[in-house]
Amino acid sequence: MANTFDLVVIGSGPGGYVGAIRAAQLGLKTAVVEKDPTFGGTCLNVGCIPSKALLDSSEHYATVQHELAAHGVLAKNVTLDLPTMLKRKDKVVLDNTNGIAFLFKKNKIASVQGRGRLKSTTEVEVTRPDGSKEILQTRNVMLATGSVPNELPFMRFDGRTVISSTEALTLTTVPKKMVVIGAGAIGLELGSVWLRLGADVTVIEYGNKIAGPMDAGLSDRLLRVLQKQGMKFILGAKTTGAEVKKSVAVVKFETVADGAKNSVEADVVLVAVGRKPYSEGLGLEDLGIARDPRGFVLVNEHFQVLTTTNRPPYPNIFAIGDLIPGPMLAHKAEEEGVAAAELMAGHAGHVNYETVPSVIYTWPEFAAVGATEEQLKQNQISYKVGTFPFSANGRARAAMQTDGMVKVLAEAKTDRILGVHIVGPRASDLIHEAVAIMEFKGSAEDMARSFHAHPTFSEALREAALGVDGHTRQM
Ligand code: NAI
Repeated sequence: MANTFDLVVIGSGPGGYVGAIRAAQLGLKTAVVEKDPTFGGTCLNVGCIPSKALLDSSEHYATVQHELAAHGVLAKNVTLDLPTMLKRKDKVVLDNTNGIAFLFKKNKIASVQGRGRLKSTTEVEVTRPDGSKEILQTRNVMLATGSVPNELPFMRFDGRTVISSTEALTLTTVPKKMVVIGAGAIGLELGSVWLRLGADVTVIEYGNKIAGPMDAGLSDRLLRVLQKQGMKFILGAKTTGAEVKKSVAVVKFETVADGAKNSVEADVVLVAVGRKPYSEGLGLEDLGIARDPRGFVLVNEHFQVLTTTNRPPYPNIFAIGDLIPGPMLAHKAEEEGVAAAELMAGHAGHVNYETVPSVIYTWPEFAAVGATEEQLKQNQISYKVGTFPFSANGRARAAMQTDGMVKVLAEAKTDRILGVHIVGPRASDLIHEAVAIMEFKGSAEDMARSFHAHPTFSEALREAALGVDGHTRQM
């Protein structure tokens, strides 16, 4: 029957579309339901991909202005063509979302545009954009509806002056003054874009450090580099409101330590204070699907949803990605989508949460995998540390990319690598050597004795690994 499937996936973000493709590869007749006109969810449409497009473009602009002269390349009268920059970003997004449509066709996945809702454990009701409804019969359901930005109750989004990350990707003029609330990944990345394009950027952060739970020492190092680039930070300060008059906002904040009140003006306020799971209208209540107090759908180790009663989990309803607890990262959602598809097809799907890398795409980038020093201390695990600065790495000097360092943490007794933290050039790519070694439960010595081509940025990892036993050689 045309409307009968082995799997219906609700949501086509990185978790949903990758999970759907894996299911189709394993022979399941699969459909994906998506409410938006394009596939790819937050990541492709208004998240990872457009932000990286703007980060790369704005980095070129900043490089021409501030770095090329030192290389002996003189560029005069450099100007910003923001409409072209935004158009290029839109084209990058379109190519990526079209790529998913192509993959769906190639894998014979049915795509249904509309809002999906669980009508029963084996029926998904789809409300199409024109209001008409359709019922899809299915053996399994994968809930992959992702997350949406948190709103501050005392500072509602208006889409023009008080904005979320979505609008920060489409500003048609460079703000004179931008205030960013929250020094997490979104605040630092989109703050960097507009700083490089000429905005005066002030970041207000509740905590005493930037970059959330990332290693404190390296967060401090990144803070200093970003300050050098001109980004201003007000740490340990709680935003309490914003008065928007015409197109200017007066953002009010209080110092957490002593409650001292202060304010700062901005023509754009980017609120980047985290995201929340998105399950509106999914029909979870009707089926008694359990959620925690923050709205995350609760699942067992096989991603089968738990119920609010004492009944066992629904064996054929799975949830993955930002909708369930854990880091809100596209690659975490992808792995969960694949594992859930494999499990429902009778295979042994599994996700190793100990090796999920995190990256903040500032320049220099900040990438990490595994435990931080703070976590190891808290858990009373004895460890050894090896560090190496990029200022002592030949390739980094040749490229004039010497800001940052690598830190390798290994278990004192066994030398097993427990965490690797990098602030530096291309940290987003360098971190995967550590991910692979940790996946095989390798040691700092394994990393130190592996070949690293010379001269490369990656030698900084090897030197930090050598440093675990005090054998660092370069400088
Ligand atoms: P976040 O949770 O990473 O950071 C939010 C920050 O806002 C925290 O440091 C918090 O202390 C601060 N904050 C909260 N309320 C505040 C207030 N009233 N005043 C001042 N500061 C306040 O959230 P973010 O950056 O919005 O990102 C959302 C999610 O998306 C995260 O899970 C993040 O990991 C993910 N993401 C990942 C990216 C990447 O992997 N590169 C890029 C963008 C987002």
